[in-house]
Amino acid sequence: MIRVEHLKKEYTTKKGTVIGVNDVSLTIERGEIFGIVGYSGAGKSSLLRCLNLLEKPTSGNVQVDGTNLGNLKEKELREARQKIGMIFQHFYLVSSKTVFDNIAFALKAAGKTKKEMESKVTELLELVGLSDKRDVFPSQLSGGQKQRVGIARALANDPKVLLCDEATSALDPSTTKSILSLLKKINLDLGLTIVLITHEMEVVKDICDRIAVMENGRIVEIGRVYDVFSKPTQELTRSFINSVLDFDLPEHILKKSTGTIVKITFQGSVAEESVVSDMIQKFKVKGNILHGKIEYIQGTPLGIFVMELKGESTEIAMAAEYLRNRTQNLEVIQND
Ligand SMILES: Nc1ncnc2c1ncn2[C@@H]1O[C@H](COP(=O)(O)OP(=O)(O)O)[C@@H](O)[C@H]1O
Ligand SMILES: [Mg+2]
Repeated sequence: MIRVEHLKKEYTTKKGTVIGVNDVSLTIERGEIFGIVGYSGAGKSSLLRCLNLLEKPTSGNVQVDGTNLGNLKEKELREARQKIGMIFQHFYLVSSKTVFDNIAFALKAAGKTKKEMESKVTELLELVGLSDKRDVFPSQLSGGQKQRVGIARALANDPKVLLCDEATSALDPSTTKSILSLLKKINLDLGLTIVLITHEMEVVKDICDRIAVMENGRIVEIGRVYDVFSKPTQELTRSFINSVLDFDLPEHILKKSTGTIVKITFQGSVAEESVVSDMIQKFKVKGNILHGKIEYIQGTPLGIFVMELKGESTEIAMAAEYLRNRTQNLEVIQND
């Protein structure tokens, strides 16, 4: 669906060349919700803007639905762009136009008749839940409502792809949730492919199928959200994940404890099984849960427990080995 090959974007500034995107290759499947995370300046927006050629790549290719955007003439490119909608953190609504006109504007640009505009805008307002706001001005809307207008406008020309640049970053958590469920609904109902950039892992955890983590213009980690959350390979990814899951053991608890401390990651159905109680029955150890949490990532449980094990060292070693085999991951944080 979207194929990016060896994409490079450099900016020429007074101070010299700045690298936005550095040799990124990536395939995003049709119907997927693909998240891109990274700190500010990582190159997320540069990459996203190259996907609809708002930004011209310095080198490399961008293909959408088999069409290489770089080969298109001006008019063809304009048409191709209409099939790629985009929404932004700051909405960019025209303050002097009503909600209706803000959305209709995108249709006018595509040469639609008045009648076509009327029926399409009505349909879009219903889709985003703003039918009663059609004649009001943006200043009369809340942030969440403004983003709904942004979404309706982005969908006006029936795009196949929706690019979202920090679309929920200016919204409070509950409004963020409602916008995310709208995006998910659009993804399911319309089969839209969504590429979503964010610095909030909560957003990724809620709706993305796969994510890429960016740093210094490069993708440093990529995978299915569940896999990345349960087995991150990069320190950077871990720090993002911790912002949501907060699995680290508080220092004061670590200091007080005297036994062997292990951290266990449970994935999928294992999180619901009685691994810990089985272990305590099988071996002569006392297990004391110091810290723990089960999170649901796209409906699949991911649990992390930090346990203190007390008993004879050979029993502890066997118990730890048992846990290691029954779960995905066991890390010894502190030895007795
Ligand atoms: N129009 C521009 N001109 C010059 N440098 C830019 C421009 N846009 C982005 N950059 C630089 O490219 C790098 C990546 O920026 P950006 O893509 O905005 O990252 P992110 O969206 O992850 O914050 C940064 O160093 C930024 O300063
Ligand atoms: Mg950005």
